[in-house]
Amino acid sequence: MMRASVERNTALQRADNFAAGVSAAGTKTIQNGRHVIEIENVSKSFFVYSSNGETVITEKKRFFSRKKPCELVALKDVTLSIDHGEFVSFLGPSGCGKSTLLRILAGFEYPSSGNVKCKGECIQGPHPQRAMVFQSERAVFPWLTVEGNISLGPRLQGTEGEVRKERVAKTIELIELKGFEKAYPKTLSGGMLQRVAVGRAIVNHPELLLMDEPFGALDAQTRNNLQDHVIRIWQSIDQSIVFVTHDIEEAAYLSNRVIVFTARPGRIREVVTINLPHPRERTSPEFLEYRNHLADLIRH
Ligand SMILES: Nc1ncnc2c1ncn2[C@@H]1O[C@H](COP(=O)(O)OP(=O)(O)OP(=O)(O)O)[C@@H](O)[C@H]1O
Ligand SMILES: [Mg+2]
Repeated sequence: MMRASVERNTALQRADNFAAGVSAAGTKTIQNGRHVIEIENVSKSFFVYSSNGETVITEKKRFFSRKKPCELVALKDVTLSIDHGEFVSFLGPSGCGKSTLLRILAGFEYPSSGNVKCKGECIQGPHPQRAMVFQSERAVFPWLTVEGNISLGPRLQGTEGEVRKERVAKTIELIELKGFEKAYPKTLSGGMLQRVAVGRAIVNHPELLLMDEPFGALDAQTRNNLQDHVIRIWQSIDQSIVFVTHDIEEAAYLSNRVIVFTARPGRIREVVTINLPHPRERTSPEFLEYRNHLADLIRH
């Protein structure tokens, strides 16, 4: 009983330290107030052709359809800023606009109204400062080795030979694939492939890493391992991460802030700051408290 209470107090003390900016791992500082991303009153609508409540998506059907396009509001009045070094997750029900907002941050989509800025400048399209981590099957070229896949970005950017070699070697170390430099994707496991996808995104030192359910297709064990990998990577790099998930536990395990969205049209329902140091204990009372709170927000 006594021991349990001492342990709980220690955990709470660690949580307080973390809230004060002192991570237990001691390697990651979040620069409060130094915004990397500012999202101001963003709304996003799509115009879709609807017939009997179903969205008509093919061009042919659209051409012959007598229906007028109707507005589908995906996001409504979203305002949020993300600080340098943060790990922020977007959590919400399917179709609430999480991927849409991430694509807006990547510069692949534009808001219908409102502004999105990266380091004070309006986002006007994709930029190497904002790197998207795609799911591995789309992110990795099967005809290139691990090293070849990771060095492709720096090559395309014209990074000099020695600098490139060093960057690639550091990245391979960071994603813990040392010894697999010359391996081809078909000889790697799903988890290793996903790490190559992360490596490809971080090798050019982007300001912001954008991840859209990167582990969605993997089994629970691999997923848990990759979550630990991502935390280690996040702690070693000087970058922020925005991570989309609809997995409550994943959001609570990874993030320092979870942005909870309502069902469509997606609005911010609540921003939950997870004041727990890494590594987090999935069965600790504090962790379960956060998880249950997030589950309540999603449910109601
Ligand atoms: N290009 C598009 N054209 C028309 N409608 C779109 C388009 N992209 C997204 N939508 C619609 O916008 C809404 C939000 O989609 P989005 O993919 O952002 O949701 P999500 O929160 O990522 O969902 P999930 O958790 O299922 O991935 C959905 O209703 C979707 O049908
Ligand atoms: Mg999505």
